[in-house]
Amino acid sequence: MSCFRCCHGVSSHGGNIKFAGSCAAVWLLLASSTGFSQQQIDAAKVVGREACGKCHAAELGAWQVSKHGKNAWDLLDHPKAPDFAKSLGIAAGDIKSEKSVCTKCHGTHQQTGGKLVIAKGNSCESCHGGAGGDQGWLTVHSDYGKGAAGTLAELLKQREGEPAAHLATRKAATSKAGMNRAEDAVKIASNCLQCHIVPNEKLIAAGHPSSDKFEFVEWAQGEVRHNFLLDSKENAEVPSLWLASGKGRTAKGRKQLMFVAGQLADLVLSLRIRAGVTSAKRGTLGDLVNDRIDDAIDEVEDAEIDELAPVLAIMKENKIKKSTLKKTTPGDKELYSGAADAVQAVADAFVAKYKDATGLPASVKPPRKSKGKAFKG
Ligand code: HEC
Ligand code: HEC
Ligand code: HEC
Ligand code: HEC
Repeated sequence: MSCFRCCHGVSSHGGNIKFAGSCAAVWLLLASSTGFSQQQIDAAKVVGREACGKCHAAELGAWQVSKHGKNAWDLLDHPKAPDFAKSLGIAAGDIKSEKSVCTKCHGTHQQTGGKLVIAKGNSCESCHGGAGGDQGWLTVHSDYGKGAAGTLAELLKQREGEPAAHLATRKAATSKAGMNRAEDAVKIASNCLQCHIVPNEKLIAAGHPSSDKFEFVEWAQGEVRHNFLLDSKENAEVPSLWLASGKGRTAKGRKQLMFVAGQLADLVLSLRIRAGVTSAKRGTLGDLVNDRIDDAIDEVEDAEIDELAPVLAIMKENKIKKSTLKKTTPGDKELYSGAADAVQAVADAFVAKYKDATGLPASVKPPRKSKGKAFKG
């Protein structure tokens, strides 16, 4: 059983998840009865950023000075923090503890020697998935058949001689172990949105911000960017490994793919959240996700991609449009979660077909701006 980030007062000790106070109610409302369950990085699998730094020093360097590396945690000392906490029944003194859901989005829960530890800020595994455990991806992802030990340079040398069959097995095993890779464009964008669309009605009512303007290309191209894998001196525009791993791949195509993936991920998650809200009045979480659904539909329309026509058909079939979104009804749970599942299936097929990001129409125009400045290697 897994819980998700918006739920406060959840602690997981040795795998037993306990609910405290109104948490259970919120969780049931949003997760269990609607099928909406935000993936939560499993603390028991999180090994911590130090383990990554051994081979990914350049990525670690970029991350350390990013807001995820530092400011995200410091926000828990912000003057508004106690009010946000109060809205969820969290005592001011508990804000930085494992009892508080705040630490799931502003920190990283990890199990060290059987004990739950909260690392400050959002670590590598907050985005790429928990890497440890018996079948964890930490050892699998860089094992070219001769074991995963060695320096990055040594491993990358082995990479050049990796047989195609081994590559296929390694990738499948890495995915199965829960790694979010650049290739899985919808998955990695959904993961950002699990923190950035704050899915909690009470927090939103208390004035906690949600990233209304989040757009995957813009937000990943600035201070978050750390594409150093094949060249530790140059922070490539798009993942260097992805670029080197397929025919005809270009940075331009990659950004088009990311843009569409970001819109689809946003649409799916917003529909899932919409399925569980109790109100869609102005200023509520429901209102906020209605706007996101609306915007994402517009972007999908403007993209003019044949493979995405089914998304618009799903909206039409279910009469999902501005006027109907505004009213919450008892049938919402089934309606919106069903639509989310259907869009997810279209999104998965889209990413599988466009894995090289070639052949997307010129009507797909990713933004050129970026959120913050990219770190220089
Ligand atoms: C022993 C060295 C080593 C360690 C430790 C290591 N990595 Fe890697 N990592 C690699 C190599 C080699 C690759 C290239 C893999 C390939 O060829 O598919 C890689 C690739 C990656 C990629 C890109 C995958 C993709 O296809 O987009 C990510 C993301 C990544 N590592 C994250 C991490 C994180 C997070 C950690 C810590 C939990 C970590 N790595 C620890 C060596 C390592
Ligand atoms: C679902 C993830 C999530 C949860 C849960 C969460 N936050 Fe946040 N928080 C964020 C994100 C993302 C931002 C940045 C939003 C933005 O500016 O785009 C943020 C921003 C903030 C800010 C900045 C406010 C401002 O006006 O600039 C404060 C303070 C804060 N959070 C405190 C808290 C506290 C205290 C809790 C627990 C009661 C909490 N957060 C729970 C994700 C979360
Ligand atoms: C575990 C939760 C979490 C995940 C996952 C996450 N973020 Fe964040 N992010 C935050 C929090 C909290 C902040 C607020 C830090 C601040 O404003 O200082 C933030 C801030 C940011 C900022 C800086 C915003 C600003 O106002 O300057 C960018 C850009 C960003 N995130 C992009 C992303 C992208 C892109 C992804 C996915 C690849 C992502 N985030 C995934 C929690 C998360
Ligand atoms: C905020 C989310 C987030 C965090 C935190 C994060 N990454 Fe990433 N990482 C991404 C995304 C998104 C990409 C792919 C970017 C793209 O598609 O343009 C990526 C790409 C990578 C790559 C591939 C780079 C290449 O050149 O191919 C590696 C390796 C990697 N990350 C390792 C790490 C390590 C190590 C850490 C911690 C020090 C880390 N990441 C922290 C989101 C994150």
